[in-house]
Amino acid sequence: MKVLILGSGGREHAIGKKLLKDLYSIDLYFYPGNGGTDQIGKNIEKIQTPSELCFFAKKSAIDLTIVGSEVFLLEKIVDIFQNFGLKIIGPHYLASRLEGDRVFAKYFMNKYGVRTPKYEIFSCYQKAMDFLEKTTYSVAIKTRGIAAGKGVLLVKNKNEAKKALNSIMKDKKFGKSGNQVIIEEFLQGNEASIISIFNGKNIIPFLSSKDYKKIGEKETGLNTGGMGTIVPNPHMTNDVWIDFKKNILEPTLEGLFLEKLTFFGFIYFGLMITSNGVYLLEYNTRLGDPEIQTLFPLMKSNFLQIIQSSLFQQKDIINIHWKKLCSCCVVLSSKGYPEKYESGKIIEGLHSLKEPFYIAGAKKEKGKWITSSGRVLNIIGVGKSIDEARKIAYDKVKKIHFENLYFRKDIGL
Ligand code: GLY
Repeated sequence: MKVLILGSGGREHAIGKKLLKDLYSIDLYFYPGNGGTDQIGKNIEKIQTPSELCFFAKKSAIDLTIVGSEVFLLEKIVDIFQNFGLKIIGPHYLASRLEGDRVFAKYFMNKYGVRTPKYEIFSCYQKAMDFLEKTTYSVAIKTRGIAAGKGVLLVKNKNEAKKALNSIMKDKKFGKSGNQVIIEEFLQGNEASIISIFNGKNIIPFLSSKDYKKIGEKETGLNTGGMGTIVPNPHMTNDVWIDFKKNILEPTLEGLFLEKLTFFGFIYFGLMITSNGVYLLEYNTRLGDPEIQTLFPLMKSNFLQIIQSSLFQQKDIINIHWKKLCSCCVVLSSKGYPEKYESGKIIEGLHSLKEPFYIAGAKKEKGKWITSSGRVLNIIGVGKSIDEARKIAYDKVKKIHFENLYFRKDIGL
């Protein structure tokens, strides 16, 4: 079987490693891939457009393509592949707008009664300013487009809110993504991520996870792609699961059917658990990174079979089996990330590192591993409790050294 995986991070390396664990005789192709994926498959070079990728997949008789990064989804890769009769896991363009277009996502949530914080949408700078002037609650300001994951500005007071609005609507910091903004009530609570598979009939949730988004300890500083994760999320109690299913998952499913937005792929619910119930902050229409790197070591089921049974056999029910353990992922990054950082630093200790771990931004040159990106490695510990998983992960972290290494020390605390 030949599988093509699209993306270049730890998530794509993790998908590849999990597929190989489940089926040894698989040929993996990655686009663009990274130094880790190069060790377990073939990185495709030089191809750039979705149409060229489609041509490659046809010519190479690729059996299945898995979209890792949302960038491809917004370039309509699923629609293009499906038009050419190729099997691909991911939402078609219209459904991918649940992630790619925050105004559309809010419209959908509102129409189908998916519980989400209250919000107002503005295209006019002055009207948005007037609203900020008179609003009585704390807000988050979000761009309509996802702006490469950077378009959510959390503000502490009115002054910061006005500055944020200026940067989006006047200075055009996020380009066209900021032509419209959503001003959303900022809720206090605990965040949780629920990644799930959608087989066109049902949404089947994975274990819950908690993403550590900020660069600094105690959730301070700039937003990143994710500096670590724990699974399960201790705040996802039984009551919260029931609330989530009733007020978020089920209305989402109903909306997907009624809007004719069904697909085979993944839906990621970004939640805020508050004392008044659980709220949906955002949908993503892909696997989370590094959430999936933290989930895979606990997944007993064969991932390829799960995908195949949803895509090829269209089974209604998919049972996913999990180890009754906990998992903790620590992301090792280059100091300076998510802003300016240096690459090309030699990484010591990788050869003897115990699994599981994933390469996010490193490559092998002349037999040596060197850093090549902001997020470099994902190191996972698995244990009977979060504390044990955390200790194992951080013990493994101690074995890795490179110049300008930075990681958060509070993942799982
Ligand atoms: N870790 C958050 C994300 O994948 O978007």
